Amino acid sequence: PASADPAGDLALQVLQALANTDQILSTEAFPSVPFETLKASLDRLSSRSMVVYEQIERQEAILEAEAEEIVQHGSHEARVFEAVHKALGGLSISDLETAIGDKIVTKVGQGKAFREKWIKKDDNKLVALVDSIEDVTRSQLRFIKETKSHDSKIIADLKKRKLITTAKVISFKISKGPKFALEIVKEETDLTADMLASGAWKTANFKPYNFKALGGHQVSGALHPLNKMRHEFRQIFFETGFTEMPTNQYIETGFWNFDALFVPQQHPARDLQDTFYISDPKTAGRPGPVSADDKQNYDEYFENVKQVHENGKYGSIGYRYPWAEEESLRLVLRTHTTSVSAAMLHKLAAKKGPDGRVPPVRYFSIDRVFRNEAVDATHLCEFHQVEGVIADYGLTLGGLMEFFETFFAKMGLTDLKFKPAFNPYTEPSMELFSYHKGLKKLVEIGNSGMFRPEMLEAMGLPKDLRVYGFGLSLERPTMIKYAISNIRELLGHQVDLNFIERNAAVRLDKD
Ligand code: PHE
Repeated sequence: PASADPAGDLALQVLQALANTDQILSTEAFPSVPFETLKASLDRLSSRSMVVYEQIERQEAILEAEAEEIVQHGSHEARVFEAVHKALGGLSISDLETAIGDKIVTKVGQGKAFREKWIKKDDNKLVALVDSIEDVTRSQLRFIKETKSHDSKIIADLKKRKLITTAKVISFKISKGPKFALEIVKEETDLTADMLASGAWKTANFKPYNFKALGGHQVSGALHPLNKMRHEFRQIFFETGFTEMPTNQYIETGFWNFDALFVPQQHPARDLQDTFYISDPKTAGRPGPVSADDKQNYDEYFENVKQVHENGKYGSIGYRYPWAEEESLRLVLRTHTTSVSAAMLHKLAAKKGPDGRVPPVRYFSIDRVFRNEAVDATHLCEFHQVEGVIADYGLTLGGLMEFFETFFAKMGLTDLKFKPAFNPYTEPSMELFSYHKGLKKLVEIGNSGMFRPEMLEAMGLPKDLRVYGFGLSLERPTMIKYAISNIRELLGHQVDLNFIERNAAVRLDKD
């Protein structure tokens, strides 16, 4: 109903104002109603054809203080003339100043009155040359004061003389529409069952659809920037022939997280300061089949891992230390998703055909990992790792570098730099750097290498299979993309939900 609408009262006033006249100008009829408010009412009335309106813009001239004075007392030159004309026998300049009472008016007015040939100097006295004059400036300004406009040449001239200023004024020219009335009839917004039953629909006044209306703000769920970035990464992996590894297991045994990867049991990464150990239960059983169709010999694999650590195997001399089974059965929050890569590669070994070969594969995952680190602006004790594995024959380190170049070019990262590094499970190993335009320096984007035979052969994979592995952080590129300098704004309890809701979709620059 009309009364429930805040614009309704104003709409009624517009109709009232038009009752006895054909046309009104909004600036005159509603000088203090804001433009938007008035427009809303007019749109409402015009959608019902009750009024028609037109928006007009015009220049309005406004008098400056000096001009107001001229309208009141006359122009400087006219005032000088009047004073001189009134004084019989002429006026000395100092008498003129006294008569006018203003030095500047006297000076400026005198000059102009001379030029107009209204006065002259005679024996050091000013005398009038004519009987009457026409004060054009004053009449022009008077006209402007009444009508706010004048001939454009005159406006320009007065503006130059700084007597007036002009301003753009928007107003509406409103007139009656074909359905003009003094009341706003209720318009039906719904066709109801009642109206159909009673036949009221035949005479009902339906509100026309407004196809131009903007939709209201939708309060809906929003994806976290990390999710959006993960989506982009996944697309690139899928485009490049990768399949996704199942990473839905945060807790691993030391066996999969470390031992299977040929990480010695004394390695500092296995310290309490670096790894979160589960306190209850502390350990798990030995690795074994997880499903009925898992036909691998886990005992043999477990034994191989023990031997390659302790005494060496597959051409390796091993680490030569007493390998403890209990240590490998301790439960940890996985420190990397390479534990999943290890389990997947072990499964791949089961696909060995009669020729002793396994099919080439490309695996990836993007999921959470945990490290016992001091939290600061760039470190959290949990983050997301982008993990990749490529297994094939005849792979070389050069091939891995080429893969990275193609892969990262898809997200706008070019000019990669490679630096030799060390991982217990890869040889050779290399860190990847990319030039960050914002920070103007090389930033580390990942770690990689070719998995060692000590790891792969223990699983039963063929000797000539080569496997690339790499790990990247998901947070790093996300922070760059969303210009976040503190990782705690991205992940954890300090995250602002508004930030999540307002963030745009991520598009990795592919320029
Ligand atoms: N696991 C390594 C890390 O957490 C990444 C990596 C994976 C390196 C596979 C080499 C091979 O940094």
